[in-house]
Amino acid sequence: MEFSQGLISAAYILAALLFIFSLSGLSKQQTAETGNWYGIVGMAIALIATIADPRVDNVWIILVTMLIGATIGLQLAKKVEMTQMPELVAILHSFVGLAAVLVGFNSYFEMDHSVMANFTDSQQMATNIHLVEVFLGVFIGAVTFTGSIVAFGKLRGIINSAALMLPHRHKLNLAAGVLSFVLMVLFVQQGGGDNLLYLMALIAFVFGWHLVASIGGADMPVVVSMLNSYSGWAAAAAGFMLSNDLLIVTGALVGSSGAILSYIMCKAMNRSFISVIAGGFGTNVVIDTDTDYGDHFEINAEAVADMLNGAKSVIIAPGYGMAVAQAQYPVYKLTQTLKDKGVDVRFAIHPVAGRLPGHMNVLLAEAKVPYDIVLGMEEINDDFPETDVVLVIGANDTVNPAAAEDPTSPIAGMPVLEVWKAKNVVVFKRSMATGYAGVQNPLFFKDNTQMLFGDAKDSVEAIFKAL
Ligand code: TAP
Repeated sequence: MEFSQGLISAAYILAALLFIFSLSGLSKQQTAETGNWYGIVGMAIALIATIADPRVDNVWIILVTMLIGATIGLQLAKKVEMTQMPELVAILHSFVGLAAVLVGFNSYFEMDHSVMANFTDSQQMATNIHLVEVFLGVFIGAVTFTGSIVAFGKLRGIINSAALMLPHRHKLNLAAGVLSFVLMVLFVQQGGGDNLLYLMALIAFVFGWHLVASIGGADMPVVVSMLNSYSGWAAAAAGFMLSNDLLIVTGALVGSSGAILSYIMCKAMNRSFISVIAGGFGTNVVIDTDTDYGDHFEINAEAVADMLNGAKSVIIAPGYGMAVAQAQYPVYKLTQTLKDKGVDVRFAIHPVAGRLPGHMNVLLAEAKVPYDIVLGMEEINDDFPETDVVLVIGANDTVNPAAAEDPTSPIAGMPVLEVWKAKNVVVFKRSMATGYAGVQNPLFFKDNTQMLFGDAKDSVEAIFKAL
């Protein structure tokens, strides 16, 4: 089946419109499912129109490749836990980056360089523009590829999530940027150059790796959305090289929505947008492993139950550990029991608690915790001083007072839940290990804080029993 060019353009416009509707639908929880469907239908139309293009030969190769890819994708998507979603997204971004690099090289090698000497001015101009497209496509793709692999490694815990602090790291980034620009000028002036392209690709691979490695764990939500944006621009660059309008539009949609999301996240976390996209530029952090914070105090489940029995107001601050332990169900039972005893129980949700935007809200909704007692950080932060007991269940970075008190901390300036202002704080975790940002938490050593060690689910169940 082959479509005429007019029909293909119409299908592309329809697909682009559906992608826009999809983004708009995804912006609200109530319309997210419809938004997903718009995206699926748009993508199906785009794929059919692309395969039916008369310029495409070897349709069977494409279909077989798609079948293999779809089978692997389906298996992965079925198996992935919610806590692993950002990892999956990061590795998918790396594929987009790699695709842009391969399209760039392919597009460059397909050019007939022998005829360039006889080009008219306008042909020369068109060739120069194409060379810039190739160069930028490979550059953005290579940065996205290695950057996303580092992000994947950090999220999966196979690469240290703390910021890599190489000496002169900003100068190294600047040098990579300037050198790549010089190579681009030479590349266009000389009408191409295999070695120039290889050298730039190598620099861009290292640059992407270093850029993300030098961003600390706490800023990873911004990094993931930033790489999402880069992968969009990489796809748009591939669209220019392949003269495919839909790929340009789709890439630009992903690129700009990712950039807007990164900007919103930076605002929420009090981070400079420029600083984060420039690999932590301007931050002057010290990873401090030597400070002696004093002793911490331990408590057991029965004593926590006694404390809760005497409390009038309780706030629960959940974090990533609650997701790992799947403790939301016993947490709900505990909440109900306390409420039945007349205790005022509420939840305090930090915007980046867990590993996904809205992660804690989804878990609590899953366990049927009523929405009206689940409050955002800004709504509840002033209430801690009047609270009898705060239960910090698997949260760490999001309740770290260093963010507010230590200007050299990697998380300095990030708004946090000010749990330490409450009368009593109980921290549920398995050890004294740091949180995702790799920074020690002075909260654990405060006089009003007690540590309840163990798996969060077991601990909550033990308290429930004791109550
Ligand atoms: P984290 O700082 O990640 O700390 C989680 C704590 O949970 C750890 O200290 C860990 O201590 C404990 N834990 C793990 N498994 C547990 C279990 N089974 N039972 C009890 N405790 C357990 O948590 P957070 O406060 O939610 O902060 C989130 C961090 O992730 C932030 O730095 C944020 O920037 C980053 N991040 C967020 C996102 C989004 S969008 N939400 C995406 C990427 C990264 P033990 O090992 O001692 O038990």
